[in-house]
Amino acid sequence: NPVRLVLHSLFQTAALDRRLFGSFVEHMGRAVYTGIYEPGHPAADRSGFRADVLELVRELGPTVVRYPGGNFVSAYDWEDGVGPASERPVRLDLAWRARETNQVGLNEFAQWCRQAGTTMMLAVNLGTRGVDAARNLVEYCNHPSGTYWSDQRRAHGVASPHAITMWCLGNEMDAPWQIGHKTAWEYGRVAVEAAKAMRRVDPGIELVLCGSSNNRMPSFGAWEATALEEAYDQVDYISLHDYYEGDDDQVSFLASSDAMESFIGAVTATCDHIKEKLRSTKTMGLSFDEWNVWRQTEFHSHDSTREAWRHAPSLAEESYSVTDAVVVGSLLICLLNHADRVRIGCLAQLVNVIAPIMTEPGGPGWRQTTFYPFAHVARFARGKVLRAAEAMSAEHETEKYGRVASIVSAAVWNADDDELVVFVVNRSPWTAHPMEVTLGGELADYRLVEHLVLSHPDSSATNVAGAPATVVPVSRPVPDGNLVLEPVSWNVLRMR
Ligand code: AHR
Repeated sequence: NPVRLVLHSLFQTAALDRRLFGSFVEHMGRAVYTGIYEPGHPAADRSGFRADVLELVRELGPTVVRYPGGNFVSAYDWEDGVGPASERPVRLDLAWRARETNQVGLNEFAQWCRQAGTTMMLAVNLGTRGVDAARNLVEYCNHPSGTYWSDQRRAHGVASPHAITMWCLGNEMDAPWQIGHKTAWEYGRVAVEAAKAMRRVDPGIELVLCGSSNNRMPSFGAWEATALEEAYDQVDYISLHDYYEGDDDQVSFLASSDAMESFIGAVTATCDHIKEKLRSTKTMGLSFDEWNVWRQTEFHSHDSTREAWRHAPSLAEESYSVTDAVVVGSLLICLLNHADRVRIGCLAQLVNVIAPIMTEPGGPGWRQTTFYPFAHVARFARGKVLRAAEAMSAEHETEKYGRVASIVSAAVWNADDDELVVFVVNRSPWTAHPMEVTLGGELADYRLVEHLVLSHPDSSATNVAGAPATVVPVSRPVPDGNLVLEPVSWNVLRMR
C-alpha cells in the first residue's frame, strides 16, 4: 500500500516565520578567517569578504545569522572588534584556544550580512561580563546618535543604527564548559537584569533566554523552569541547542528527528507550566538557535589544552554524507511542523565549522550535501504550514527509538503564489515507498509540477573540494501514478 498523505487548505497550523531558516557564524575555527573573510584571496572584495562565499550564502538563503558565538561570546569584549582595525587588540580566545585578531567585528559583520542579504541575531556576553556591557552594546548598535556609544559608532563610520532586533542573552550558560558558567538561578537573575536594561535602551528588541545546551544535560528541565521563572516577563524566546550524531547504527541515526520532536515537546511543556504558574498571558516562543549533525564525541575526544595558540585553526570541519543531508532534511521537517512555537532556528554553523559551505584558503568554496535540503526549504517554504495527516503510513524498527515512521513530511502553502510545497524524507535505509497525496479545499486542483530528489546509491557519498559535486539534487520526471520515495532520500514536491 502506498503511504497516503492528506492535506487540506483549511488545516493550517502556523503562519511561517521565516526566521526559522537561520544559520550561525561564530568566531571559531575557520568560520570567519579564511571562511567569510580572507583579504588577499582572488575572490576577496575591498573589505576582505570572499565574493564566492557570499554568492554561496545567498544561494543557501539563511534569513538570519547568529553572531559572534557560541562559546566564543562568553569571554568576548565586543569593544575589541570596533574602531580602526589597525588598533584592535589581539586576544586569547578561551573557548577555542585560538588567537583572535579582531579584524572582523560587529560593524564588518553587519556589512557582510547586508551583502549576504540576511539579518544579524546578536549574542551578548553574560559569562565574563553582564548588564553594563550588554546595555552599552545595544546603545552602540541601535541608538541613532547624540550619546557616547552611538556617537562612537558614528565615529567608526556607521551613521545609521544597525537596528538589530534579535538578541541572545548569553550562550549555553548551563554548561560547565562555558566561561562564566552559572547555576540556573544565577543565570536567570543576570539575564532578567540585562534584559531590562537592554530594553530600556531599545524597547523594540526581542530577547532569547538560554535554555539547556541539549536535553541530555543533567540539569535539563530544571534549568529551563528556574531560569524562566526569574526572567519570564522580560524575554520572548527560550533557546534549544542540539547536535545529532551518527555512529554505526545508521537506522537509528536516520530517525534522529524523533529526538528533536521530544526535545521541543518537553521545552514547550516547561514553558507552558511556568506560564500557568506565573499566571502569565504570554506564550513563550522557542528559538532552536543551534542544530545540526555533528560527530561531537570524536571532536571532544581530542585534548587541545596543550596545543599552541593558533589563529583560525581548522576545527570541526565535518564532512557530510547523503545520510547526513537526509537527517538534516528530516530535522527541517520537524522544525516546520513545530512552527507554531519554534519561530527562530539556526543551522549551526554556516561556513567551514560543521557547515554546509566549505572553503579552501586561497582556493575554492563548495557545497556540502547538507547545503541542498536547507537551500530548498529556505527557498520554497513560504506562507502557511499545513497539518500533514498520514492516512496510511509505513513504519520500521530502530534500536534507539523503537518503532518509527519511515516517512516524515511537512507541507507549506503559499496562497499568494498559488504553490504548495511538500518536503518528504524516507528514513528507511532499505525500503522504497510509493506515496499518494490527496488534496482538499483550495488545493483540490493542484498537480505535481516538480519532484526534486537528493539521494545516491551510496548513502555515505560526500562532496569534496576542487572536484565536481558527487551529490546534487535532481529533478525527477513527474509520474503518471504514485511517486516513489527512495530509501534514504530527501524529496521536494512542488504542486500548483
Ligand atoms: O556550534 C559550536 C558550539 O557548540 C557552540 O559554540 C556552542 O554554543 C555549542 O556547544
